[in-house]
Amino acid sequence: MHLPKSIKTITLAAMLGLFNPLMGCASAHVEANFVESYLSTQTQLVTNFNELGDTLVVVVPEGAQVKLAGWSNDTANHVQRVMDIAKFEGKVGQTHTIVAPLGLTVDRLILVGVGNPADAARHKVEEAGASLAAMFNSLSAETVSIDGSLIENSNDNSRILAQLSHGIDLRNYRFDRFKSDPAPRPSQNMRFLVSDRSQASKEFADYRALAEGVFLARELTNLPGSNGYPAAFAEYARQAFESLDVEVTILGPEEVKAMGMGALYGVSQGSQHQAHLLVAHYKGNNDQPIALVGKGITFDTGGYNIKTDSSSMRRMHTDKAGAAAVIGSVLTLASQKADVNVVAVAPLAHNMVSDKAQLPGDVVTTGSGLTIEVGHTDAEGRLVLSDGLWYAREHFQPRVMADIATLTGAKIRAIGNDFSAVFSDHEEVYESLRAAAEATNERVWRLPLDPVFESAIESRIADVINTGSPGASAGAMLLQRFVGDTPWIHIDMAGNALVGSDKGIHPRGSTGYGVRMLTEWAKSNPLK
Ligand code: BES
Ligand code: MN
Ligand code: ZN
Repeated sequence: MHLPKSIKTITLAAMLGLFNPLMGCASAHVEANFVESYLSTQTQLVTNFNELGDTLVVVVPEGAQVKLAGWSNDTANHVQRVMDIAKFEGKVGQTHTIVAPLGLTVDRLILVGVGNPADAARHKVEEAGASLAAMFNSLSAETVSIDGSLIENSNDNSRILAQLSHGIDLRNYRFDRFKSDPAPRPSQNMRFLVSDRSQASKEFADYRALAEGVFLARELTNLPGSNGYPAAFAEYARQAFESLDVEVTILGPEEVKAMGMGALYGVSQGSQHQAHLLVAHYKGNNDQPIALVGKGITFDTGGYNIKTDSSSMRRMHTDKAGAAAVIGSVLTLASQKADVNVVAVAPLAHNMVSDKAQLPGDVVTTGSGLTIEVGHTDAEGRLVLSDGLWYAREHFQPRVMADIATLTGAKIRAIGNDFSAVFSDHEEVYESLRAAAEATNERVWRLPLDPVFESAIESRIADVINTGSPGASAGAMLLQRFVGDTPWIHIDMAGNALVGSDKGIHPRGSTGYGVRMLTEWAKSNPLK
């Protein structure tokens, strides 16, 4: 079964009476179709199976005897013999398929190991789920029964089955909105045999809300440059939040300019798609908020310092992945009704070349009043973030801020794509984020933020300059000028936004990096 692609189409100009968000734009309206859900499989939680369907998955703790309720001795002996020969021990992530298993009605029995359930790492269980999803799809399984009865402790049982299901969901995302005849989405009917239905339902619901946030981030990131421009990005997000208790504010270019955010405004001034600032506030309690600020460059040509490597420019529709991550995070936290007060701020700009575009050497004035010399038009991320950070601080007085951005090629050259780079002068903030990153396996590695790099951002004619070396630290140093006294951490996720081929929980394309870490971090109540 294939889900309807467009739930609704909304004409933005018609909805916003106050100002036209597309000033200077050739076409008069935005058409944005937000797909409400990518959870394509049907998942049920049951406490007994009436019939097993075509595929039975047995979740096997390390070293467990595999004999399920209703199995004959012959079946159990047969499965045990296969396990011995295949050296299947139930280690986490291990799988083995037995076709036409003796004495069972199913076409295949898949054993999946979860190690010691009490301390199985979350990401390993999710990866096991992802490999199951890949198997179900390649085997054309239709009705799948997942038996968790060998995990006896009911907390472990609920958690591990929910994590397996989450891994399946994450792997099954497809970016197919531009296919005229898309391949059917994975649509298995999945039944999980759980030990405590109400406990398991809560776990499943939380993980499904997390998957929805990751999907929103992936979808926004995957949108091509000419579809995901600032006003369209904001409109997709607005639609995604429609049924949730989230206050969405969208500032158009005239407001951005009027509020003095000249650095954000300037990056988009060469484009028909002018700057916007998108804010999504979920107030789950009355704490001082946590602010998440995401870089939203909806396409990065480099500007007049144009990117000369065509293959790198080709991927620059993903330069909005930071904005996508903070918006996805708020979607998850609001859907989970989490006990947090969190605001996402996404400065959105299209970095283009035209007669109106900003020039190398221009000086812009930020909302905070500090001026920035645009030494290089391709170092635009820190320009939009300087205003995003200022706006978050000025309007929400957060107790802590994190910004996340596909900021520098230097970060990729330094540490590659598996880690993001983090920069902070606040030990407790760093430590809390590191813990969240480890829990979710969205790994981070700390790089220096140090006064020794002050000289890197010194400008001859303005307060600071947007270039400087070493690149990743110079970026962080500039951002630091805009956080005031607010405890803060900068996450450079350049290279983390995309995978070139299916990999674990990530189908090829955008990863949605950041949502899992940031939601975990917000819920850990940093600096409370
Ligand atoms: N969006 C890029 C950084 C990037 C590069 C992200 C590759 C993902 C993959 C950023 O705006 C940029 O162009 N940075 C320049 C800055 C330099 C000109 C000071 C860079 O790192 O090369
Ligand atoms: Mn750039
Ligand atoms: Zn960029």
